[in-house]
Amino acid sequence: MHTLGRTSTLRLLISIIIMGPANTSLPVLVDTKAVLSCPPIVLTNALLTIWEITLGDKPFCIRTHRRDTNETIETNCTDKRMTWPDRPDQIPALQIDPVAITHEGYYRCAVVTPDGNFQHGYHLRVLAAPEMTLFQSENRTAVCKAAEGRPAARISWTPAGDCVPEHKYWGNGTVTVQSTCHWDGNVSIVSCSVFHETGNWSLSIELTQGEIFPVSQLLIILYLKASIFLVILVIVGIIYFQRINGCR
Ligand SMILES: *[C@@H]1O[C@H](CO)[C@@H](O)[C@H](O)[C@H]1NC(C)=O
Ligand SMILES: *[C@@H]1O[C@H](CO)[C@@H](O)[C@H](O)[C@H]1NC(C)=O
Ligand SMILES: *[C@@H]1O[C@H](CO)[C@@H](O)[C@H](O)[C@H]1NC(C)=O
Ligand SMILES: *[C@@H]1O[C@H](CO)[C@@H](O)[C@H](O)[C@H]1NC(C)=O
Ligand SMILES: *[C@@H]1O[C@H](CO)[C@@H](O)[C@H](O)[C@H]1NC(C)=O
Ligand SMILES: *[C@@H]1O[C@H](CO)[C@@H](O)[C@H](O)[C@H]1NC(C)=O
Repeated sequence: MHTLGRTSTLRLLISIIIMGPANTSLPVLVDTKAVLSCPPIVLTNALLTIWEITLGDKPFCIRTHRRDTNETIETNCTDKRMTWPDRPDQIPALQIDPVAITHEGYYRCAVVTPDGNFQHGYHLRVLAAPEMTLFQSENRTAVCKAAEGRPAARISWTPAGDCVPEHKYWGNGTVTVQSTCHWDGNVSIVSCSVFHETGNWSLSIELTQGEIFPVSQLLIILYLKASIFLVILVIVGIIYFQRINGCR
């Protein structure tokens, strides 16, 4: 009876000690290294360490480590990019290197100790920085593009123009955002700003009047000019030789 009483007192204490499931949102850049740590428990107190990784709606990998027997049981933990480096002083943290978009999901580390269970969960969000470009497409029309970002970037213009936004979703979870704007009147310099969790960028362009020739059209013009020059050269040559022949 005495032991039971002590146990229930201990249980009560434990329920006070146990931290609620602490969850944090963890944004990481794609192609970088991420380290997810377990609750800070002194290693000697840990009986069991459980890592549970949920990608999508079902468990992807479960890894359990028993400290007394130094036994590790892994279920489906086959992703070579996920490792648990053995550190003698700490409960193994999960390392993902390099992070891919498919690693987005929920990661939980639970540590079972005689004083209770401690856990920490991470909602891993994978970010990709967009690549920005700004160019003039036609007469007084400019295109600003934030390519292959995750999540989608936001585009804004100064001064505001008459704009058409476009979103293109790629199979790998990145989004290309584009804004095509036209300005009337005497606006000459326009700037585009791209806002994203990974950074903000801004570029300016001077709007030119009249037609902008694409490179292919410029090449055709160059080719035509060269042809005309060649024809003139041939005619001049023929006339020259005829004169020489005439002189003989
Ligand atoms: C094992 O991993 C694959 C992906 O590699 C996943 O589709 C499958 O559901 C996993 N199985 C279990 C039992 O978790
Ligand atoms: C536990 O086992 C791993 C291999 O599974 C080994 O590398 C490590 O040194 C062992 N740790 C202890 C404390 O025995
Ligand atoms: C996503 O797909 C696009 C188009 O195929 C590619 O250019 C880009 O590099 C990919 N990004 C990532 C982070 O995989
Ligand atoms: C256009 O130019 C006129 C005078 O040249 C000026 O009064 C007007 O404010 C300008 N408008 C814009 C939108 O810059
Ligand atoms: C980007 O701009 C937004 C809005 O002005 C600002 O809140 C944010 O801190 C900026 N981010 C960076 C990385 O500079
Ligand atoms: C370009 O726009 C200006 C003003 O809107 C107009 O006067 C001009 O004729 C246009 N040029 C061409 C080639 O469309």
